[in-house]
Amino acid sequence: MDKIVIRGGRKLRGTVRISGSKNAALPIMAAALLGDGPSRIRNVPRVADIRTMSDILSSLGARVDFPKPHEVVIDPAGLSNPTAPYELVSKMRASICVLGPLLGAIGKARISLPGGCAIGSRPIDLHLKGLNQLGASMRLSHGFVIANGKRMRGADVFLGGRFGSSVLATANILMAAVKTPGVTRIEGAACEPEIVDLARFLQAMGARIGGVESHSLRVEGVRRLKGVDHTLIPDRIETGTYMIAAAITRGELFLKGARADHLRAVIEKLQEAGVWVEARAGGIRVNGAGARRVVEITTHPYPGFPTDIQAQMMTFMTVSPGISVITEKVFTERFMHVPELNRMAARISLEGSSAIIRGVRALSGAPVMASDLRASAALILAGLVARGETTVDRIYHIDRGYEDIEGKLKRVGAAIERIR
Ligand code: EPZ
Repeated sequence: MDKIVIRGGRKLRGTVRISGSKNAALPIMAAALLGDGPSRIRNVPRVADIRTMSDILSSLGARVDFPKPHEVVIDPAGLSNPTAPYELVSKMRASICVLGPLLGAIGKARISLPGGCAIGSRPIDLHLKGLNQLGASMRLSHGFVIANGKRMRGADVFLGGRFGSSVLATANILMAAVKTPGVTRIEGAACEPEIVDLARFLQAMGARIGGVESHSLRVEGVRRLKGVDHTLIPDRIETGTYMIAAAITRGELFLKGARADHLRAVIEKLQEAGVWVEARAGGIRVNGAGARRVVEITTHPYPGFPTDIQAQMMTFMTVSPGISVITEKVFTERFMHVPELNRMAARISLEGSSAIIRGVRALSGAPVMASDLRASAALILAGLVARGETTVDRIYHIDRGYEDIEGKLKRVGAAIERIR
């Protein structure tokens, strides 16, 4: 198994090119199933989750080609098999986002239940409730959700859950509704930039969607959608991670292609913490040389502070003076990185869904274990500033969502190596 070895203490300087958004790419690749012809998607990140989605779409009968490293063409002409098998769904929970497109495209779906994962129990009740409100019949059998959408009609759907809106439930209902006769209103919809990108992709295909960027979507079903050419938005979570890399090493990075308008909450918190951030044409510049201050952060659905940057921000707080508090309100158990950071001499204690972080002068390099994608990024950030050597094991997690992280960090001055 590959490992990443980092020698801490180097300031990062230079330019990092931000990749296309993984979490926009996954539902948009699935949405390509709804077209009458092939769709071309550009700015696709080269990460393992994209390969998994490509395997799922191929197993359903679609043709998936990568004519260039960052471009995928999906031709749904051969789509016939409604089954997404356990082997693929268990690899990537986001596989659930083929449910809506399968119902919209062929009127049936058989998807293995994703089960739990390292960041919590992750139910899919809102996906099922929403599709049910559209008139799809759903049953659970031998670990599969079996859905029939032949009688789907436009309807009012409410997607507000215990923890706020759901990103992939919104994606699924939207994708199921665009070819369903009648008008569907989705209340409590997620409005993350990835959902907006999906809506723009569907609109280009010919879908009629109103209320994009709000919590209320209005969809008027159409009979046919065409294949289109679409360029994905930049990855805001990758951007946030490199912003923190600049901040924590007291370096300066220009994040080429990044969009500041997708990261307002993160930029505000970094500025509050003493980091200099400037949005420029074509990217974001970040400088971490200034004096640091403590912050309090609570994660929320967009436009709040994203749960996907919670772990990385926590690493930053471990070396900021004073006591910071981070409360996780989206995935309340997403703290697998805490014991690993504490092994590196961080001082973090957990009180329910809050982490209390007492800043230390320095972290101490150690062998640590990645548990999920963003936790792995947090450990790499810790390694960048820790005294001595840090080895991060199980880095297949990071390869799921960060394109060439060691290459990008190395080019701006980090002492980082992948050991195969
Ligand atoms: C998406 O997951 C992202 N994944 C996650 O990114 C991200 O952490 C999450 O949204 C929140 O922003 C992709 O886009 C592929 P949710 P999703 O449904 O849609 C609860 C990463 O690191 N909930 O918005 O699955 C749920 O338990 C990943 O890139 C229900 O209760 O997340 C959570 O508390 C990890 N019932 C909250 O809603 C449901 O049916 C928000 O989850 C669905 C969700």
